[in-house]
Amino acid sequence: MKLSRTLLSITFALTLSGMTTNSYAGEVEVLHWWTSGGEAKSVDVLKQKIEKQGNSWKDFAVAGGGGESAMTVLKTRAVSGNPPSAAQIKGHDIQEWGRLGFLTSLNDVAQVEQWDQVIPAVVANIMKYDGTYVAVPFNVHRVNWLWANPAVFKKAGVTVPTTLDEFFDVADKIKAAGIIPLAHGRQAWQDATLFETVALAVLGSEDYNKAFVELDMDVLSGEKMVDVFTQFQRMKDYIDPKSGGRRWNSATEMVIKGEAAMQIMGDWAKGEFAEAGKVQGKDYICAPAPGTTNQFTFNIDSFAFFKLSGAEEDKQAQKDLAKTIMTKDFQQIFNLNKGSIPVRTDMNMAKFDQCALDSMAAFKATAQSGDLVPSMSQGLSTTSYVQSAIFDVVSTFFNQKDADPKEAAHKLSRAVKAAM
Ligand code: GAL
Repeated sequence: MKLSRTLLSITFALTLSGMTTNSYAGEVEVLHWWTSGGEAKSVDVLKQKIEKQGNSWKDFAVAGGGGESAMTVLKTRAVSGNPPSAAQIKGHDIQEWGRLGFLTSLNDVAQVEQWDQVIPAVVANIMKYDGTYVAVPFNVHRVNWLWANPAVFKKAGVTVPTTLDEFFDVADKIKAAGIIPLAHGRQAWQDATLFETVALAVLGSEDYNKAFVELDMDVLSGEKMVDVFTQFQRMKDYIDPKSGGRRWNSATEMVIKGEAAMQIMGDWAKGEFAEAGKVQGKDYICAPAPGTTNQFTFNIDSFAFFKLSGAEEDKQAQKDLAKTIMTKDFQQIFNLNKGSIPVRTDMNMAKFDQCALDSMAAFKATAQSGDLVPSMSQGLSTTSYVQSAIFDVVSTFFNQKDADPKEAAHKLSRAVKAAM
């Protein structure tokens, strides 16, 4: 009798404490590929917020920048009828999952939270399938950045390059000083990231869009594309022989330590500098990638939400997750850690550094000028089928000795055509 009364009071107390945080405690299982230092720190903020609400967070992290491995694992899980609550799915992939009928509507959350009023239309359209919100954006990443170690530049007596010609000139001098000019990891998605940045500089925004959004065969196989491959190939002279399979964050670490001078990578690299306690402007420099000063290749991270067949509590927890991602508080902390800028247009940017402010200014200016273009390497410009066809051609070309740029442009157009 005494025992059961004690148990009863414990149960009552637990129920009460549960109610003060969240009366719908459920579980969210979240698939993502945020495993580097800066990325893990960023996603951990979300986990903590979800747990504070009384929900539980089941982490489903699949390592591998660019998310190729994560997407393979996700397909297996979804096809076997057991998808996670949410998965890091981006760009055109959201539409593909929506078309297959896997995703759930978030319109009720979107309406209460007024997402349409605070998310730029260009972003909102990516998050909607058939007019319905099925995904939630975290941020805007700029891909065309150059990360540089100023101490190395000083040692070599050079300044940060703003054009491709300057880049090659500066890289020669850094090489002569005995330092690796460009930190890179030879993985298909990293090769594609470098390629796309060179393409943006050589083609210009209009032809970039023609090639990677409209899939225009004339541009894909044309003279300018041959030049893209030629300039891209020159980059090989400035990369060290140990770059095979190197992860992107290990490449960033080389710049942090002064083993390499530069990295061309999206601003998730900034998350690594920040995690290492480095100060922007003093320990590292961000500059637009050579030849792309007034252009912006965007990458938007998002979680897509799956239809769940389980408990109501889990469905509610899923909505809590969607709502939390878009809150101002989360957008601020997450993006400070991640290196990106918030996706909400009504944020106070006082805590953000100069790289983030430059990114924000460039995002707004390029949206007006027509130089805001979706990143091919990050899956924002085209379907995953076309993207992987491009990856194949680009990576094979980059890894082959004496590959022919003219032949590569021809192969590129053929591969894209076959994947359309
Ligand atoms: C991208 C993702 C970024 C970033 C990077 C490296 O695809 O959008 O958030 O972290 O991969 O893992």
